[in-house]
Amino acid sequence: MEGFENKNRDYAIGVMDSGVGGLTVLKQLLNVMPEESYIYFGDTQNLPYGSKSKDELIKIVKEIFEFFETQNVKAVVLACNTTSATAYEELKDKYSFKIYPLIQSVAKCIAKDKSIERLGVMATEATVKTQTYSKEFKKNNPNIKIIEQACPLWVPIVEKTLTQYDEKQVMTDYLKNIIAFNPQKVILGCTHYPYLIDTISKYAKRELFINPAKIFAEYIKEDLTLNEMRTTKEQSSVHYCASSDPEHFKHNAQMFLQIEEEPELVEL
Ligand code: DGL
Repeated sequence: MEGFENKNRDYAIGVMDSGVGGLTVLKQLLNVMPEESYIYFGDTQNLPYGSKSKDELIKIVKEIFEFFETQNVKAVVLACNTTSATAYEELKDKYSFKIYPLIQSVAKCIAKDKSIERLGVMATEATVKTQTYSKEFKKNNPNIKIIEQACPLWVPIVEKTLTQYDEKQVMTDYLKNIIAFNPQKVILGCTHYPYLIDTISKYAKRELFINPAKIFAEYIKEDLTLNEMRTTKEQSSVHYCASSDPEHFKHNAQMFLQIEEEPELVEL
């Protein structure tokens, strides 16, 4: 049972991201495994992750993983491309729970489709800097051609820390190189970006874009099943934590998921 270190299969699954972005993944986890219990950690105190250095991100993720150790989770889902790209390699063997990184997991699944020869990726600056999407896809499909585009303003728009902006400009600035590359598909390589799909679709064809959250959730379900780590319980629960301003987190989250309970403030 590699990665689970004798964990009880009825323990919760930790899910983390910088803010509400990872809820796009949690929603799919709840769809495919509605009976599991989840602890969602939204690190509102440290967002946006995309403009931080690798060292800063490793330090932050360590603190969140230490919190998850105190909660006895059986696994942690990095519902965050940026920390999958920057912190996962460094931290992957240091904890008692299994860690699921987003990019490495979905690249394995999507790259199986060899009909995709030209791929666009829209992600945070920190993710693009590592070129993790390109490296992980090429491991699985060496002939694929990939363009990665950083979109630094999109997370502040979703988290409503940026409210005054020229919509056409923030969309077309980031989309123009991607469209010129003529990709068959474009991955929304930041879990916040699916919130913007209606706006993005005004400037590019909606069918181009892949939200990898569903593929990721199915991958995790398959792996937990293979390792006999699916819960025996029948009733799911979700506990939400935010590292600052739980009210703002709850308000933002309503765009995507109905949260009944008050999120708990867990300072790092
Ligand atoms: N949603 C995260 C990601 O998938 C982090 C975004 C950020 O805080 O910059 O990369």
